[in-house]
Amino acid sequence: MIRTIIRGIGSYVPPKVVKNDDLAQLFTTSDEWIQTRTGIEERHFAEEGTSCSDLALEAAKRALEDAGMSAADLDFIIFATLSPDHHFPGTGCYLQKKLGTPPIGCLDVRNQCTGFLYSMAVADAFIRTGTYQNILVIGSEIHSGALDFSDRGRDVAVLFGDGAGAAIFSASDADDRGVLYTELHADGEFARALHMDIWDISKKPFLNQQSIEMENISPQMDGRTVFKHAVTRLVELVLNTLKKNGLRPDEIKYVIPHQANLRINQMVAERLKMPKEKFLNNIQKYGNTTAASIPLLLDENYRSGKLQRGDLLMLIAFGSGFTWGSALLRW
Ligand code: ACO
Repeated sequence: MIRTIIRGIGSYVPPKVVKNDDLAQLFTTSDEWIQTRTGIEERHFAEEGTSCSDLALEAAKRALEDAGMSAADLDFIIFATLSPDHHFPGTGCYLQKKLGTPPIGCLDVRNQCTGFLYSMAVADAFIRTGTYQNILVIGSEIHSGALDFSDRGRDVAVLFGDGAGAAIFSASDADDRGVLYTELHADGEFARALHMDIWDISKKPFLNQQSIEMENISPQMDGRTVFKHAVTRLVELVLNTLKKNGLRPDEIKYVIPHQANLRINQMVAERLKMPKEKFLNNIQKYGNTTAASIPLLLDENYRSGKLQRGDLLMLIAFGSGFTWGSALLRW
């Protein structure tokens, strides 16, 4: 039976570190407020001139190196982002050019915080059906250019950071590791709870001088609604994933949650009566990097030696859409 394994993994964040106190110079907030409500201490912001595909390129190079592969070995690219280089073409095409692969297919995925898990499910399906052997899956974001750094946008501006994570998903006949399960959901009822319009395609022209107001070109969020639904849906998701696979919570070595807010992940662990230490987190250093957060967390814990071959991991995410999903991965 063909099984999908992670053959290589890598991540990259731009060098510039922005601390909570730096944000407090721009609008009314404090390190104490941000840490208490979100757990975030600092995040990285890309410099002017850096694109989402540039961060992705660095993460992809590291993943290829880890896999012992070159770009020529890839046969498909899946690129998850909510901050693409441009409206079109897809950022996967820009990355493909920068990587210098042959003319392989590139698919952009627009599922926000659940983007990496949606991409992983698609990669797994392509690999298990024998369509492709080596798929580069990328989550990359540059949020810093689209945040409103005034008091009006402070609830959102404190949350997000820039970064990229990449994984090479490969076909394998190993029966002791790989992707075991994926589960995906969405509920468009809550599409307006977290959105960034930029334009309205029903208007003619779809974008004009007046529509470039800050509230159109920065994310708008009903934070309390997002928080409440995130906790409810993630608890449901973990229970369903365990049940469908006949697993007990103690059989999961680590939960790898999307990094939206430390309090969300802590509350989910509490409600499930699972030890908090099982939920790995790094939001303290990076903020919410949306589609990049799961591969960034995996990469960091893999490189530090925390993840060991054979560990059973549960990946979970919730975000704008609303979208949410899970995956079981034997490392
Ligand atoms: N600094 C200081 N005060 C602030 C800030 C800030 N950055 N932002 C808001 N406040 C103020 C508000 O104005 C409000 O003041 P008021 O009481 O005088 O009206 C007060 O703090 C409380 O505001 P709330 O919005 O009620 O604060 P809450 O406790 O809900 O925390 C937060 C806000 C952190 C945004 C929270 O709602 C949250 O984390 N929600 C989930 C957000 C999330 O996870 N988003 C991303 C997930 S999806 C994705 O990743 C794309």
